[in-house]
Amino acid sequence: MGDGQDRKRHIKAPPRSLAREHREASQGYRAKVFWLTGPSGAGKSTIAHRVEQLLFDDGYFGLAVLDGDRMRGGLCSDLGFSPEARHENIRRVAHVGRLFLEHGILCLCAFISPYRADRANAADIVGAGDFREIYVSCPQAVCEERDCKGFYELARKGVIKNYTGVSAPYEEPEDPALVIRTDELAIEESAEALRRFICKETRIDSP
Ligand code: ADX
Repeated sequence: MGDGQDRKRHIKAPPRSLAREHREASQGYRAKVFWLTGPSGAGKSTIAHRVEQLLFDDGYFGLAVLDGDRMRGGLCSDLGFSPEARHENIRRVAHVGRLFLEHGILCLCAFISPYRADRANAADIVGAGDFREIYVSCPQAVCEERDCKGFYELARKGVIKNYTGVSAPYEEPEDPALVIRTDELAIEESAEALRRFICKETRIDSP
């Protein structure tokens, strides 16, 4: 979509009128991006939405959930599931997360994000100090057994190509800030573990 011009050279962002720190101080908590990664069916979106409700009930009003199926229905609807398309998907989501962050909005991102390099890129875009990788872990066999959307069955039949865990890889995080094992915990326990972690990480005096 280039128009022959050097796009970067003619961009100059206006100064922000309301600093992020100011927003954070008045709402009483810091914003960060909590990035939930894991295979399809591990429970990322379920946990993220449950935690959103729990935090909201606790007075965290500036918060947002971004998840794969929703983003792919809009901003990322032009993207498929090749490694390049997933890279672009994650890049865009990370930039959206960063925009939220700049407005003091805590952001829960639930994406398979199967490639370590793409998650590292997301952390770079957001800023490592504001990015926490959460591994929503569940054995492949259990995810397939759950098959909440029926997509594993279609992937095994070859109807869906490049399906993570079947015909495309998932690279486990090497040093996640938190691991949630959804094969061992009930949804409510998983959500509570993440809620506790977020409350600690978003205290105004947290690093
Ligand atoms: S990611 O790999 O680019 O991070 P994302 O989290 O946005 O994926 O989207 C994953 C969702 O897309 C899955 O929950 C599933 O509903 C749907 N989906 C459709 N095709 C595929 C596929 N080939 N691999 C993985 N998920 C797929």
